[in-house]
Amino acid sequence: MDFLELKNTAEIELEKIKNSKELKEFSDKYLGKKGEIRKLFSFVKDLALEEKKVLGKEINEFSRVLEEKVAKFEKELKKAEKERKEKREKIDITAPGKTIETGHLHPMTQVRREMERIFELMGFSVVEGPEIEDEWHNFDSLNIPEGHPARDALSLGKTFYLKDGNVLRTQTSSAQVRYMKKMKPPIRIVIPGRVYRYETTDASHEINFYQLEGLLIDENVSVANLKAVLQRFLDQFFQRKVEIRLRPSYFPFTEPSFEVDMLCTVCNGKGCSSCKRTGWVEILGAGMVHPNVIKNGGLDPKKYKGFAFGLSIDRPTMMKYKINDIRLFHSGNLKFLKQF
Ligand code: PHE
Repeated sequence: MDFLELKNTAEIELEKIKNSKELKEFSDKYLGKKGEIRKLFSFVKDLALEEKKVLGKEINEFSRVLEEKVAKFEKELKKAEKERKEKREKIDITAPGKTIETGHLHPMTQVRREMERIFELMGFSVVEGPEIEDEWHNFDSLNIPEGHPARDALSLGKTFYLKDGNVLRTQTSSAQVRYMKKMKPPIRIVIPGRVYRYETTDASHEINFYQLEGLLIDENVSVANLKAVLQRFLDQFFQRKVEIRLRPSYFPFTEPSFEVDMLCTVCNGKGCSSCKRTGWVEILGAGMVHPNVIKNGGLDPKKYKGFAFGLSIDRPTMMKYKINDIRLFHSGNLKFLKQF
């Protein structure tokens, strides 16, 4: 290629360069060790002295100008690239943020805490018992001797027996005697927790559900005290005056025993399908602690009396929030859970 042509092509190529990579290629092609300018020099080397002088000077000049141009261009490209990068990385503080989904407590946990709070305000402490129980605490200590139908796995008792002879507790009452032994009267405790029963599941039955047990042991305790505490609790829990009635019932560990009903909230006592046309809804079991149980707790039944009650946490939660299927609680269904 002759010198003039080379100069022209270089000019044209330089015009077309768009980025540093192309610039580097260009610079290698012309100014590099094996580049076009070197080639020119090696050609000039063999010329006559006069020609060598003139051409050599021109080539030198060309090389110098080209180097300058490349350097200048390189600077410009670097600057532009830096600006582009900065623009890309700039934080737009006006852009809407990404919302992080926050969870919340399960409705039953919320209700359990609410129940605990109401009892705490009445001077009760919140304690817990084991879910895997020995038969003695789940049955014998509660005046349910061997052979009693309540112990049977398949009929009334609905008990899950473990291979080692222990059971999954069927009721939080199993912790009563544990705390009588541990504490000194006056004892005022509530025991929330999970209990297990062999059930065919349906809209109102689950194989495990939650109970809240109450136990009060002191010197002069009567049914009137029991009723007052329950009335206060239910009024607070449902945030209104709740009408209740105590109906005679039977539990081996209380004497006398009661079933506590509240006036049906759906029909207001008139009788509807929710209350099986009775106007009342059973809400908890209760009674005066049987002397044998007090004895099993290491206390003197002549000196100490007490009352106990047990309610499911599931049922009042369903009533409070008008939930019609108990199975929703453990379903993991977010559409259901997100409502609370
Ligand atoms: N443990 C009884 C039940 O599960 C409820 C209860 C507790 C009854 C305390 C009386 C006293 O049905």
